[in-house]
Amino acid sequence: MGTEQYHEPPGELSQEIRTFARMAASLQEEAEAIGWYEQRMSLERDAQAKAIMEDAQEEEFKHFAMALEFLSRRKPKWRVVLKDVLFKAGDIVEHGEEAEEEEKKPPTRRPPSRSSAPPRSRPR
Ligand SMILES: [Fe+2]
Repeated sequence: MGTEQYHEPPGELSQEIRTFARMAASLQEEAEAIGWYEQRMSLERDAQAKAIMEDAQEEEFKHFAMALEFLSRRKPKWRVVLKDVLFKAGDIVEHGEEAEEEEKKPPTRRPPSRSSAPPRSRPR
C-alpha cells in the first residue's frame, strides 16, 4: 500500500489529515491522467482509439472535480481562493492576487456565500 502522500509519520497524523492527504494525492493523480490522455490523443491516429481516450479523459475531469470539491470543503481558505479565481473572465493572475488578499481576511469579514451553505436535501 502506498504511503508516499505522507510527508510526516503517518502514525502521528489524525485520520482526518490522512484522508486529506489521500484525497490530495488523488487530485494530483487525476490531473496527471488528464495530461497523459491529452498527450496520447494528440498523437493517436485511430479515430476509435482516440474516442475511447476522450471518454476516459472526461471521467478524469469528473474525478478531479470531485476530489477538488472534497478538499475545498475542508479548507475554507482554499475555497475562498477557488471562488475568486475559477470560472471568471479576465486576467487570471489578477484574480489570483485578489484571491490572495481575500484569503488573508478573517472569515467574519467575508460576505456570506450561498454556495457555501450546507446542501439541501434532494426533493423526492
Ligand atoms: Fe480518475
